Amino acid sequence: MLRRSSRNPVSDLTRVEDYLEVIYSLIQEKGYARPCDIADRLNVKSASVTGMMRRLHRIGLIVYERYRGLTLTSKGERLAKSVQQNHSTLINFLHILGVEEKTAQLDAEGIEHHVHKISIDRIRCFVDYAAQHPSWFKTFADTLK
Ligand code: CO
Repeated sequence: MLRRSSRNPVSDLTRVEDYLEVIYSLIQEKGYARPCDIADRLNVKSASVTGMMRRLHRIGLIVYERYRGLTLTSKGERLAKSVQQNHSTLINFLHILGVEEKTAQLDAEGIEHHVHKISIDRIRCFVDYAAQHPSWFKTFADTLK
């Protein structure tokens, strides 16, 4: 999710995943996802949202009825959850490496769609280990200064 510079070309799957991620977080926050809120979060026009909603419906990721709002199918929710988990793991990882918030968000946005499960699992292990072994981690963190 999040805004992205229009100069950055974005793959089709990435776009689909970003929509799902935004829909999922809106539903978590408000209980529903309105096209205008989706447009707002992704910084796109509402016509693009409508087109994408039809498409996500067609490929079985959401159920979209024009005047009734939209819901994620279980397949859509699974995909949204995994992107969201990747995102938060990457954010934690970049934070402990001392990357500042704005850069961490931008980079997590890009990487979250392109990381293999094994890699994200190992990154998660690393983050957990660092949290559980503060003195081990401090030795490394001191080298960053
Ligand atoms: Co994203």
